[in-house]
Amino acid sequence: MELYDAMRTNPSCRYFTDEPVGDAIIHRILDHARFASSGGNRQGWRTIVVTDPDRKRQVADLHRKQWDVYIDHAREGVVGYNDRDGARMAAGDKAQQRLTRTDDFTAGLADVPALLVHCVELSTLAVTDKDLGRQSIVGGGSLYTFVQNVLLGCRNEGLGSALTTLLAAEEPEVAELLGIPEGIAVGALVAVGWPDPEKQYTKLSRKPVEEIAFRDTWGEPFTA
Ligand SMILES: Cc1cc2nc3c(=O)[nH]c(=O)nc-3n(C[C@H](O)[C@H](O)[C@H](O)COP(=O)(O)O)c2cc1C
Repeated sequence: MELYDAMRTNPSCRYFTDEPVGDAIIHRILDHARFASSGGNRQGWRTIVVTDPDRKRQVADLHRKQWDVYIDHAREGVVGYNDRDGARMAAGDKAQQRLTRTDDFTAGLADVPALLVHCVELSTLAVTDKDLGRQSIVGGGSLYTFVQNVLLGCRNEGLGSALTTLLAAEEPEVAELLGIPEGIAVGALVAVGWPDPEKQYTKLSRKPVEEIAFRDTWGEPFTA
């Protein structure tokens, strides 16, 4: 698949078919993703490919715990989001639709063919913004280049994928469940499967370049 096409048509996939994903495909994706950039080329990323049904169920349960926390906040802020069962959004309410899709995704997570738990070896990270008195942005930089490559690799294979970071908040439990040693952080979960053609959209809504890129100083739109 042409790279720019892949970049422009890679939505979060929340609905999958039951068809399994072969290990060879996931291996191929990881084999290409590993050429991502990392600070000092330390390559501290580590991925646990979870396909065992019991373990997937336990990972999904941990994810759901954090989704429940998130949804309580979201429900307060999203008008009309009133329940979690059935078709429950006013037509055209994009935020609500997204919540519904994500809620469905959470409910079906254990049945997604492969759950990729993306971790990083903390000692490999040079966190250059750690003394700025705000949350670090740089910290994850040397993991998420790899993760984005995984998402694009999935698209190239015709697979759907969805990235979530909720699992990171359950790190101690995830570590116990998957045998992750000390010094390794959980950075993301990527669910991978074949997209359900009935439910999967491909047209993405994103801001134009002029709104997100500036020339020379902040605020002057960067145009072609
Ligand atoms: C850091 C990060 C965290 C995310 N967390 C979740 C999540 O917990 N659950 C989920 O369904 N999608 C999650 N997403 C996916 C976004 O919600 C999604 O990319 C966004 O809504 C745009 O949707 P689209 O890519 O399908 O257009 C996350 C994406 C990022 C980059």
